[in-house]
Amino acid sequence: MVQISPSVISGDMAFLGQAAREAEEAGADMLHVDVMDGCFVPNITIGPGTVAALRNVTKLPLDVHLMIESPERYVEAFAQAGAGIITVHVEATRHLHRTIQQIHGMGVKAGVTLNPATPVSTLEEILPYVDMVLVMSVNPGFSGQKFITGSIGKIARLRRMMEERRAVRPIEVDGGINAEIARDVVRAGASILVSGSWLFRHPEGLKAGVEELRRAAMMAHATQV
Ligand code: DX5
Ligand code: ZN
Repeated sequence: MVQISPSVISGDMAFLGQAAREAEEAGADMLHVDVMDGCFVPNITIGPGTVAALRNVTKLPLDVHLMIESPERYVEAFAQAGAGIITVHVEATRHLHRTIQQIHGMGVKAGVTLNPATPVSTLEEILPYVDMVLVMSVNPGFSGQKFITGSIGKIARLRRMMEERRAVRPIEVDGGINAEIARDVVRAGASILVSGSWLFRHPEGLKAGVEELRRAAMMAHATQV
């Protein structure tokens, strides 16, 4: 099964609650929430208060992507805010295993993510401890960037590594996703698709976008390599 996680910050930031509700009504499976600190990435978005506010307006699991330096400082706050899964960057924390334990200790699922230049091999030891791996297919910081094509091979290598290590986890992909690229990343092994600008700016609306993405992904899933 392929899941769709619309990136809510691509909606109108003055009406985030409305964007979250629209994503739910459009049939999304999760809501991707991009947290940026102006330090790990050159942009600032939202914090735990906004995540808690979103928690009140949607039933969708909140897929919280922390693009922040030393995320262990804020794990508790985001868990209490109602995150369903907290994903941290391997590049942002010195003690990744401890941070993953900390997230699980709060009763929340833990994901780990890689910047485009970070090799899949950095996950070898942590893989058995995580619930999901997120492959960044753009450099984090902004919506609306172009998909980095090397991400397709990276997803395939990650999938192979998971199988060899008998630690198969859902692979999420984030950045520059549209229906056409969705086919390629799903064929390579991804099963959770984040999409921001393409979905929220779909000419026929968010619901049509989610349906188009799901259709493309389902067809590709059937022919997964
Ligand atoms: C990038 C964020 C992404 C981004 C997705 O730093 O992590 O989630 O908002 O937006 P699009 O789909 O427009 O690349
Ligand atoms: Zn993201």
